[in-house]
Parts: sequence; structure tokens; C-alpha cells
Amino acid sequence: MSFFTRSVSILWVLILFLSPTSNAVVVYQIIVVATNTLDNGSLNLTIYCPYFYPKLLHPYIHLRPGDQHLFGYSGDITPTLRPFLCFFAWEGAAHTFNMYDPTRDSDCEECNWHIGEKGPCRFRFPNREFACYNWF
Ligand SMILES: *[C@@H]1O[C@H](CO)[C@@H](O)[C@H](O)[C@H]1NC(C)=O
Ligand SMILES: *[C@@H]1O[C@H](CO)[C@@H](O)[C@H](O)[C@H]1NC(C)=O
Repeated sequence: MSFFTRSVSILWVLILFLSPTSNAVVVYQIIVVATNTLDNGSLNLTIYCPYFYPKLLHPYIHLRPGDQHLFGYSGDITPTLRPFLCFFAWEGAAHTFNMYDPTRDSDCEECNWHIGEKGPCRFRFPNREFACYNWF
């Protein structure tokens, strides 16, 4: 291994450990709910979360307008194990988003996401308002 390669590897490890959004945590019974709120209720939404459906023949979740899907998870969340990193698709669009980031979402055990065109919004109880985020 060259000095350069080793330096880059060490740097990468440091980035993994120091990055504020990638803390390794263990969570217990996190519930994530995704609701299709696209286009005022006129578009079907398809969600695919690789962690949850590695073995199924039809791993895609189809949500009609207003429908929701619930995911549950207990265990590790690390920079490389992100169970709620999912793909979202509808007519003419495809996006990626992580619906549970331990740093951003530590205030919810049931995390309610409304999936809209501009990005996902999560209802937050302390202020009773939605916090909206951009697609990755
Ligand atoms: C969705 O509803 C809002 C508020 O009623 C309206 O302003 C907006 O134009 C609607 N969007 C579409 C795509 O129909
Ligand atoms: C949404 O999906 C349902 C069945 O899954 C279908 O009947 C309907 O036509 C779809 N709507 C749109 C707007 O594509």
C-alpha cells in the first residue's frame, strides 16, 4: 500500500468517525411511517428500501394517494448500515432519502414522513410543525 493510499484510507476512516451526521448508534423500536402526499393526492408513489426487502421478489411498496407504509427497526445504525435509506419514485421522478438519521431524527421514536415532490417533511411534535428536507 503506497503512502498516498494509506493516507487516503486513514483520512476516510477519520471522516467516517468525525462526520456529525454519521454517528454509530443503537436504536430500539424506531417506527418510520411514510405517507404519499404527492401532488395534492393525484400521484402513486413507489418506495424501495434495500435493507428491508433484500429477498423478496416484489420489494417495491406501492402507495396510492394518501396511503402510508410503516417500517419498524431495532438495532445498529452506522454510516454503512442505514436501514431507512430508501428510493422514492413516481411518474417522471426518482429520488433518494434517509428517513432516519440518528443526528437529525433523535427526537422521534415514531417518525412521520410526508412524501411530497419537493422533498420529505417530518412532523415534529415539540413545535407541532413540519420540518422539510431536500432530496439527496
Ligand atoms: C395543490 O394545492 C395547493 C393548495 O390548495 C395549490 O396552491 C396548488 O396549486 C396545488 N398543486 C397542484 C399541482 O394542483
Ligand atoms: C395508481 O395505482 C392504481 C393501482 O395500483 C391504479 O389503478 C391507478 O390508475 C394509479 N393512478 C395513477 C394516477 O397512476
